[in-house]
Amino acid sequence: MTKQISFNLFEMNTVGHISHGLWVHPENNRHRFNDLDFWIEEAKLLEEGLFDSVFLADVVGAYDGYRAGPETALREGVQIPSNDPLLVIPAMAAVTKHLGFAATFSTTYEPPFAFARRASTLDHLTKGRFGWNIVTSYLPNAARNFGLDDEIAHDDRYAIADEYLDVLYKLWEGSWDDDAVIRDRDNRVYTDPSKVRYINHRGEFYRVAGPHLSEPSLQRTPVLFQAGSSPRGKAFAAKHAEAVFVGGSTLEQYRTNVADIRRLADENGRGGAHIKAFASAVIIVDKDRESAEAKAEEFRRRSSAEGYLAHAGGGGIDLAAYPKNALIADILAAENKQGRDNSANNRRYPPGATVGEALETLTRFDRNPFYVAGSPGDVADAVERWVAETDLDGFNLRQFLTPGSAENFIEYVVPELQRRGLYRTKYEESTLRERLFGLGNQRLFPEHPGARYRGGANLDGASLDGANLDGANLDERAEA
Ligand SMILES: Cc1cc2nc3c(=O)[nH]c(=O)nc-3n(C[C@H](O)[C@H](O)[C@H](O)COP(=O)(O)O)c2cc1C
Repeated sequence: MTKQISFNLFEMNTVGHISHGLWVHPENNRHRFNDLDFWIEEAKLLEEGLFDSVFLADVVGAYDGYRAGPETALREGVQIPSNDPLLVIPAMAAVTKHLGFAATFSTTYEPPFAFARRASTLDHLTKGRFGWNIVTSYLPNAARNFGLDDEIAHDDRYAIADEYLDVLYKLWEGSWDDDAVIRDRDNRVYTDPSKVRYINHRGEFYRVAGPHLSEPSLQRTPVLFQAGSSPRGKAFAAKHAEAVFVGGSTLEQYRTNVADIRRLADENGRGGAHIKAFASAVIIVDKDRESAEAKAEEFRRRSSAEGYLAHAGGGGIDLAAYPKNALIADILAAENKQGRDNSANNRRYPPGATVGEALETLTRFDRNPFYVAGSPGDVADAVERWVAETDLDGFNLRQFLTPGSAENFIEYVVPELQRRGLYRTKYEESTLRERLFGLGNQRLFPEHPGARYRGGANLDGASLDGANLDGANLDERAEA
């Protein structure tokens, strides 16, 4: 059977996510992102277009590394103002039945217990359509918003994330049995306490007693997305992620990265096929190639190089502060010497490039490895070729205009992909995990590390049968 290709709309609850400067376009609705109707209209459109999900990015700080302050980001609307991605999901869920919702939340700044409940709530309200993009966050300003003087070092953030996930799995998978809630009116028992337990987690970074406050949702653990590209990030993905965003500067690098992640997952005993691989797709389509190219030219004209630089500078180097012929590698080496964490920048900037070359690359959307501006046939050819040659499972569609980019994709590309058997013609399943892995797969696969806590296995928790209802016993039990 031909492999059907997944498409998510790449979104953010903000005015300018990654297509900087285009908020000024007269047909762009981005300025309406504070308005619930904006999200409701988008959800309806994406479900009509049979998208897999809307994928909401997020950051928890301002991009203030460029020209030593947030002024450019503010002026250009670069991910500020921005709102919480989780809060628009229930409204979108209310007007759809199938569309998935993958939202970003960072493991670095807010402890896991409250997030566990928020995620379970969303999985309940969406009837099993919630996914979580796990990030460890990269903005220095984010660290300063949460009481730190500077960012926690890159690999340490992943160590924290590892334990964070462990706590969540205990809460989501281990704390409640499926049949805990019995709603027995006659005997006045809502939940059978013998089927709910403390988790008593005591680790290096967190101490969490539990029990989880939400009863099990359809998926329990939301579908786990992740985009690590460093060695530590890839190892994290191979352990936890069910869907990964791979990057690269060429098609060949994408192929290698997809193969790497599947191999690492295999080595972890998870089965490479149990990880779906996604890439960003930069697509500008119209009825024919000429019209699409004209549209691309217009987007180029209205793009803001300053906006792109503010975005790139948020993670670390302020390119405006260096001469055009300076080598990026030298700048990174000098900054590393001063103790700056430039691990994210090592990958963001082209290796071996000068500042001038990096500026050129960073300010041009058509430099993305998957970039196509063309007719429906051109786009479908590129999608088909990339999937065949890289083993990718799907794409996050970048927006230039909202709702124009999604509308164009649905009008022109979807029918062409459907004609080729590469895109669904109706939704078959309703939970997000089943969408990715097939009907019947609502829950984590048994070999996933989260599954080891099922039924209370591998927990230090005691079940809450009458005698143990007093949480004050917790410390004694944990110490025992
Ligand atoms: C498609 C995609 C989406 C991402 N979305 C976010 C995001 O919303 N918020 C964030 O802090 N980082 C985001 N990232 C960055 C990743 O979480 C990660 O930090 C980055 O890919 C570098 O990998 P590393 O952490 O292993 O060094 C995204 C990356 C990709 C490729």
